[in-house]
Amino acid sequence: MKFVTLEDGAKIRNGNVLGLALYDGFALEDLTPLPSSLALLARMEIPRENFKAKKGHTLVVPLADGDTQCIFLVGLGDRKSVRPDDYRQAAFSIVRAAAIRGASKVSIAIPDASGSYSGCDRQISRCIGGGATLAGYRFEKYHSSDEDDRFRVPDEIEVLGGDIDALEAGRISAEGQCYARDLANEPGNVINPQTFEEAARKLAGDCGFDISVIDSDELKRRGMNALLAVGSGSATPPRLIHLKYTPPGKSAATVALVGKGLTFDSGGLSLKPADSMLTMKGDKTGACVVLGAIKAAYEMKLPITVHAIAGLAENMPGGSAYRPDDVIKAYNGRTIEVANTDAEGRVTLADTLSYACEMNPDVVIDIATLTGACAVALGETTAGLFTNDDSLGDEFLAASRVSGERFWKLPMDDENLRKKLKSPIADVINSTGRYGGAITAAMFLESFVKEGTPWIHLDIAATDFVKEPYSYYIKGATAYGVRTIVGYLAARAGAAAEA
Ligand code: BES
Ligand code: MN
Ligand code: ZN
Repeated sequence: MKFVTLEDGAKIRNGNVLGLALYDGFALEDLTPLPSSLALLARMEIPRENFKAKKGHTLVVPLADGDTQCIFLVGLGDRKSVRPDDYRQAAFSIVRAAAIRGASKVSIAIPDASGSYSGCDRQISRCIGGGATLAGYRFEKYHSSDEDDRFRVPDEIEVLGGDIDALEAGRISAEGQCYARDLANEPGNVINPQTFEEAARKLAGDCGFDISVIDSDELKRRGMNALLAVGSGSATPPRLIHLKYTPPGKSAATVALVGKGLTFDSGGLSLKPADSMLTMKGDKTGACVVLGAIKAAYEMKLPITVHAIAGLAENMPGGSAYRPDDVIKAYNGRTIEVANTDAEGRVTLADTLSYACEMNPDVVIDIATLTGACAVALGETTAGLFTNDDSLGDEFLAASRVSGERFWKLPMDDENLRKKLKSPIADVINSTGRYGGAITAAMFLESFVKEGTPWIHLDIAATDFVKEPYSYYIKGATAYGVRTIVGYLAARAGAAAEA
C-alpha cells in the first residue's frame, strides 16, 4: 500500500472508490472549498435527503462512469465536536469499503476542522494514514477457504491535501499495531514462550535490534524466581526477552517498555472457570504491544533509545506448578506470598520491572492484561493508567487523545487501600480481594519499580480483545496501546504528538 497526495482535486477521480467525508448538516455550499470538479461531482451525486452525515453513517453511491465504481460517503458528525479519532475512523471505513470491493485504488477527501477540503494538517494526515492502514487488517491464516476472497488491500491511496510524511507516520504506527495483533491472535498451541522468542528473534534480525534472552536456567542463576514460579507448571519454560533499539543519531531519552507475556493464562492451580479461560491466549498482548511499538519506533527512526522487555510464561496447573500459599523471593529481593495463582501477571512483572529498571531508563511504561477489576471499573473500551509521576501521566494522556485509544487515570494515593498488600508471612501478597483490584495490582507493581524512576502502568484487560467488530477493529486482538505508546515516544522525541 502506497500513499500519494493530491494538491488538485481535479485529478481525484483516479480511484476506483472515491471516499468523501462530510460534517453533520453539511450544506451544498459547504462543499465549495472542494476543488471545483469534485464539488460539482459531489453536488450531482449526493442524495442529501438520504444522507445527513451523522457520525459513523455511511452511504454508497454507485457510479456508472469510467473506473470509479462508487462514491463512498462517511459522516463525521458535528464539526465543532470532531475529535482526531473521527478522521481515523472515517479513513478506515472508506478504505475498508474499497478493500471489500476489491478496489486497487482509493481516493480520499476529508475536510479539516474548519470544513475546508483544501489540505489536511499533519495531525489529520496521521490519523488518515492510521485508519487507512488498519482497514487492510485481517487474520485469515487458519480459515482453509477465504469467504471474502474479493478482499484486497488497495495498492494506492490518494489523499486530497494530505501530508505524505504524516500519512507514513500514521501507517507505520498502525502497522506496528497490526504486527502485534497478528502475534496476539495466535492461539496458545502455536505461541508459547519458546515460539514467542522465535518471533522476537525474527523481529530483532529484521530491524537490527540487540536481543538478549534469559532462559530458565539463567533466570534461576539470577534469582528471577517470580517469573520462574509462574511458568513452572508449563511444558514450555518461561524466559525474559529483551530487545533494544538504538537510534541512528543522538538519543533524546531512554524509554523501557515492559510487557506482560502470558502466552496462556489458565489460572494455574487457582484454575479459572471454563468461560473465563476463553480469550486467555490474549494474556500475552502486553508483550506483543511492546514488540509492535519498538518496531514502529525503529521504522520512524525516532531519536529515542527504546528497550522492549517481556516476561514470557504459560500459567498452567500441574505437579510442578507454583501453589497458593507459596512464598517466592523475587529478583529485587522482596518476598511475595501467593494467595492466588491466577494473579500471576503481577508476579511475572515483579521480576521484569526490576530488570527493566537496571537499564536506568528515563521512563518505564509497562502494559498488561492485568485485572478483570479494571474491566469492571472502566468497561471494555477504556484502559486504566496508573503512574507515580502525574506530569508523565498527563503527557501520555495527551498522546491518547490523538491516538483514539482511551486511557483513564486511576488513583495510587489511597494509603488505606495499600494496606491490603501486607502479608503476614512475606513482604507483599499477590491477591487482595475484589474491591479496588486494579489499583492494588498497580500498587503491587510499584513496589518493584526502582525508587525515583518515572513509571506508567497500563492495564489493558478486556480492551485487548473485541468480541464483535467495533470502530476500526475486527473481531479479535486489538493490540491496544501500540498507537498511544508510539505517539508518546514521538512526542517525547520532539515530533508532533501523534501516531
Ligand atoms: N489475565 C487475567 C486478567 C484478565 C481478565 C485479562 C479478563 C483479560 C480479561 C489476570 O491474570 C487474572 O486472572 N486476574 C485475576 C486477579 C485476581 C485473581 C486477583 C482477576 O482479574 O480475576
Ligand atoms: Mn490470571
Ligand atoms: Zn493473566
